[in-house]
Amino acid sequence: MYVKECVKGIERIGGRQGRLGFMRLDMNENPEGLPRELVDEVKAELTPEFLATYPEPERFLGLLAEYLGVERANLCVTNGSDMAIRYIFEVFGRPGSSVLTVSPSFEMYRINCLIFGLTHKPVVYNADFTLDFEKVLGAITDEVSIVSVLNPNNPIGSVYTEEQFDRIARRAKEMGALVIVDEAYHYFYDRTFLKKAFEYDNVLLIRTFSKLFSAAAVRLGFIVGREELVHYIWNVRPTFDTNAVALKLGEKLLEHPELQERLTAIEREGREYLTASLEEHGYEFVSGNGNYVFIRTKTPISQVKARLEEKKILVKTYSQEMLAQYIRISTGSRAVMERFAAAFYEVDR
Ligand SMILES: Cc1ncc(COP(=O)(O)O)c(C=O)c1O
Repeated sequence: MYVKECVKGIERIGGRQGRLGFMRLDMNENPEGLPRELVDEVKAELTPEFLATYPEPERFLGLLAEYLGVERANLCVTNGSDMAIRYIFEVFGRPGSSVLTVSPSFEMYRINCLIFGLTHKPVVYNADFTLDFEKVLGAITDEVSIVSVLNPNNPIGSVYTEEQFDRIARRAKEMGALVIVDEAYHYFYDRTFLKKAFEYDNVLLIRTFSKLFSAAAVRLGFIVGREELVHYIWNVRPTFDTNAVALKLGEKLLEHPELQERLTAIEREGREYLTASLEEHGYEFVSGNGNYVFIRTKTPISQVKARLEEKKILVKTYSQEMLAQYIRISTGSRAVMERFAAAFYEVDR
């Protein structure tokens, strides 16, 4: 039996199970979720007829086009932005080429390189969490077919300036590469490169409903860009890739634009509270532009993590050297951050 050589050695770690009931600060979700009334509105529409019918994405796409101020033809909806990344690799990953990312970055870029037999080309952050931009630019060479620009990056919430982005896009174009702008954390940071996906003919932008919009469970993401590029994505996308419940929830979210502001304000208040409190307690921390903060613990990481877990709090730790002394926590409302901080100060001493 034939097995693609490139997938044989891939080692995947499945997501942790049984997280409900914990304070989930390990995966940049909203720890509290959406207002119950909005969820109830969706539930009321999940009739047997609705569930028996294949998904119809056009209404969602129409609302999304209006929300973003683009045309329907500029959009593709996907099963989480994870799948958007996969389709982009499938379409634009030239066989034998490399994919450029910074490191550390969102792990699925590396995994998709393995899946498609592409070479991962990481440019590593400095130990002080800064990035040598000229090194990133210089790494865009003619063997690169995809350049990933996470803005803000995950896990380190750094961002590019507009001038830097333009230099990346132009250089990528010269080298025949596509640029993916991943704005998973856009809403926690008020700038966007959306217009760049129209200015350049080698740029696609992706976003997710998993973070600010608190809908990680249903898997809803999208790609936006020029019609001639987006069209290729529809060519590889399974007809019913995004499920009907996700689309329905997405429609409700887009019908309540005031919610975005409310969710953003709640997270911002919580993050500001937490960073002020960490400062007061003499902690070294890195708070970038996303809904997450790195905290350098005073006692050993594994002990802090285990003791927080005993208190039903999940946090993220890393094995990479530059991050090994830190826990990363997702930020949420002030109430959640107060509960986290009280538990953290108790266990980290
Ligand atoms: C930068 C970035 N992009 C994409 C994703 C994927 O999100 P989802 O598949 O839930 O849309 C994540 C998830 O953490 C992320 O951090």
